[in-house]
Amino acid sequence: MQVGQLADQLTFDSYIRDNRDNLPMAKILLGLDIGMQSIKAVQISKDKSTSTLLAAGYIATPTKAYLSQTAADEQELANTVNRLVHDMKVSTADVSASLPTSKVITRVIEVPNMSDEELSSSIQWEAEQFIPMPLVKVKIDYAVIDKSEDSKKMKILLVAAPIAIVERYMRVITAAGLNPVSLETEILADSRCITHSFPTLTNVLIVTFGASNTEIALLHDQILIYTKSYPIGGTTLTRTIAEELGFELPQAEEYKKTYGLDEDKLEGKIGKTITSLFTNLFTEMEKTVGYFKEQYPKEELKTAIISGGGAKLPGLVLSITKNLSIDSQINNPFTNLSVDPNILPTLSPDAPIYTTVVGLALKDVT
Ligand SMILES: Nc1ncnc2c1ncn2[C@@H]1O[C@H](COP(=O)(O)OP(=O)(O)OP(=O)(O)O)[C@@H](O)[C@H]1O
Ligand SMILES: [Mg+2]
Repeated sequence: MQVGQLADQLTFDSYIRDNRDNLPMAKILLGLDIGMQSIKAVQISKDKSTSTLLAAGYIATPTKAYLSQTAADEQELANTVNRLVHDMKVSTADVSASLPTSKVITRVIEVPNMSDEELSSSIQWEAEQFIPMPLVKVKIDYAVIDKSEDSKKMKILLVAAPIAIVERYMRVITAAGLNPVSLETEILADSRCITHSFPTLTNVLIVTFGASNTEIALLHDQILIYTKSYPIGGTTLTRTIAEELGFELPQAEEYKKTYGLDEDKLEGKIGKTITSLFTNLFTEMEKTVGYFKEQYPKEELKTAIISGGGAKLPGLVLSITKNLSIDSQINNPFTNLSVDPNILPTLSPDAPIYTTVVGLALKDVT
């Protein structure tokens, strides 16, 4: 099973099935990724052999509206999405969108080996142990990712989204004049995009470094088998530089982007501050690689793919390569997409921030 197929099962169907009735035959989807720093959208048309990028763009997220729950803020978020897709002149309203990692529980759990029927009747009970809120308030979806007859346990990818969040995103997308046809968690979209960009890589360590979170995940045979989110992102780095070294935030952001982990510049002050924030993340990455080796002792994990805006932090790729002794690369989601050569140079500098949204637009929703 490919991750695309797997991930395509994990969508909050009961909320959106009706919106799919009138999907056109030619598959053109709008991916929409509302991040803490920016809202990204891409329009992709897909046929059997080629996926073509028709439009791409991003706009700054109105931070207060993103973080708040009021109806007025919801409308502001919707207006911003509407402005972006209007500027992009998109030709479809059918949206495949992501739910924020911090609000959704995405976990691989192990349960005793059982039949599909048994699993479907016991999943609520199994899930209860991992979900820190009443089950009536969450929408649960799951897929079996690893099951062998001779093993006593099987692995399940479990996704639980608070119903209030799902409904909020549905309202924002609808108020933006769009038609939600799929909602899923960011790491599933990232996995789909990375598999599309690197079709020959089977086993991958994924590190997604956004503004608010870092997600560390594993693909085995192109299937997501492990994922964990850490509340450290680009914003944490900028704030810490500003607080510890006494800079204003815009200047701290510039220093971060210019010097990154480099300890030779500015007496190494920026590099040291950032490195200390990465200590735990590197340990978690090492543990994740260790988990892979323990689960699949006869296989190799040779590559780490880094995505999200933080992937561009100077020195990060090299540090991951050194710390983990595996080859690391920044994801370019436009690889293997047909893209107008005139617009590619304008997109390339920001390429890694489009990972999630390209994965969303590549989803099969029929
Ligand atoms: N050249 C760079 N060096 C270091 N960090 C960078 C660079 N360019 C962008 N960033 C950081 O990347 C982050 C934005 O990335 P991205 O667009 O992936 O986040 P987001 O999707 O809005 O956030 P999230 O997914 O966490 O909600 C910001 O923190 C920004 O400072
Ligand atoms: Mg993001």
